[in-house]
Amino acid sequence: MNRKWTLAMGMAATLAICAVVAGGAKAQSSGTPHAGPSAGSQAGERKAEEQFKNIQVLKGVPAEQIFPSMQFITASLGVECDFCHVQGAFEKDDKKTKQTARKMMEMMFVINKGNFEGHREVTCYSCHRGSAQPAGMPPVMTEEPKEALGGPKKPDSETKEYSGPSPGQLLEKYVQAVGGAAAVEKATSRVMKGTIEFGGKSLPIEIYAKDPDRRISFTHMPEGDNVTAFNGHEGWLVMTGHPLREMHGSDLDGAAMDADLHLATHLKPMFSEMRVRGTKKIGDLEAYVVVGQREGKPPIQLFFDEQSGLLVRLVRFGETALGQLPTQIDYGDYRDVGGVKIPYRWTLARPSGRFTIQVSEVKDNVPVDDAKFVKPPVPPEPPKPPAN
Ligand code: HEC
Ligand code: HEC
Repeated sequence: MNRKWTLAMGMAATLAICAVVAGGAKAQSSGTPHAGPSAGSQAGERKAEEQFKNIQVLKGVPAEQIFPSMQFITASLGVECDFCHVQGAFEKDDKKTKQTARKMMEMMFVINKGNFEGHREVTCYSCHRGSAQPAGMPPVMTEEPKEALGGPKKPDSETKEYSGPSPGQLLEKYVQAVGGAAAVEKATSRVMKGTIEFGGKSLPIEIYAKDPDRRISFTHMPEGDNVTAFNGHEGWLVMTGHPLREMHGSDLDGAAMDADLHLATHLKPMFSEMRVRGTKKIGDLEAYVVVGQREGKPPIQLFFDEQSGLLVRLVRFGETALGQLPTQIDYGDYRDVGGVKIPYRWTLARPSGRFTIQVSEVKDNVPVDDAKFVKPPVPPEPPKPPAN
């Protein structure tokens, strides 16, 4: 995958890259049953070795986790897919790096089993840190130490004993800060217009959201619209010139959260357990860090401004076979819309890319046609080879 592609897709980030490549791979795998519109959950239950041709180490892993796992590797080593794969034939083992990567996976499992009671503490990133060749030596100092100039920085209090508000109180303060539960619950639809910035570009974007949990955004590219959508259960992406791609796994989880107009009041019931992990500096402000555990899903981290009580950052994690992939959303420029404070700017960042949306116009409770959220037909599967 070349650089231009990756950049162009920074917008839809991991999701899009994964979807595009998935299409390519699917077309080559012989006799893959058609993952039709209703096959979303079935696809989730399929094992990697059933969908792909040459899985030796990641056997038993859900098939839908293969692409996220590959993105985890790519981000951990700071490489592209072709570092290990022959273009257009992912199953081939021609490159030595791919064979090494298999051994590395096995090594990682052994390290964790033997030293961390099987918990996935050590991952590819622990050693590689964004480089194919991990450093075995600490580097020499290339700059004057900062302490000499301004004195040591105040460390984040995340590791210190915490004695502040409880997580429940922080969530409650947040709901109050945005206008109270009643005001939050009153919103039934939202239309936003603004710009999206990624890879040095700035393009117009329109976002429509409507209860229950439906959301669609249109980025106006010179060559047509890019669409990211969620209809309450299914999510999909359309990039100009490419067929529709469906979302899977953690991407759906994230899309559902983004589509929720009442997230402020829905956060608390989402968690089976909450904990405050101290405070952390974000830009100029100090924020409380709340970690919420969910049943059967990765946790969520919430950062609340110590002063205003507003949510300034949310971090969620996508599960892969080798480690978790974080998505960080920073919220800012809160403004009042009919009694509710709404962020007019947010930046979504993942290991593979980032984008910022700045809206200039937000309208709540205006009519939004249900037809907007209807999923277009999924393109037909390419013809299968005659014999399997
Ligand atoms: C550092 C090496 C490495 C990189 C980089 C990498 N992969 Fe892989 N990939 C592997 C290994 C190793 C396997 C086989 C895993 C196994 O045997 O369980 C694999 C398997 C696959 C498969 C299954 C192929 C089949 O039919 O058996 C696909 C598809 C795939 N990778 C896609 C990707 C994509 C897309 C990227 C870029 C986002 C990528 N890989 C980046 C090492 C890599
Ligand atoms: C415990 C540390 C450690 C972990 C964990 C680890 N690696 Fe490595 N890896 C290394 C070291 C050290 C080298 C370099 C060996 C050398 O220089 O010959 C290496 C080399 C590699 C190479 C060959 C690079 C090249 O340029 O030829 C690949 C590919 C690779 N690792 C992939 C992975 C993947 C994928 C994972 C996670 C599944 C992983 N590694 C986890 C330490 C680690």
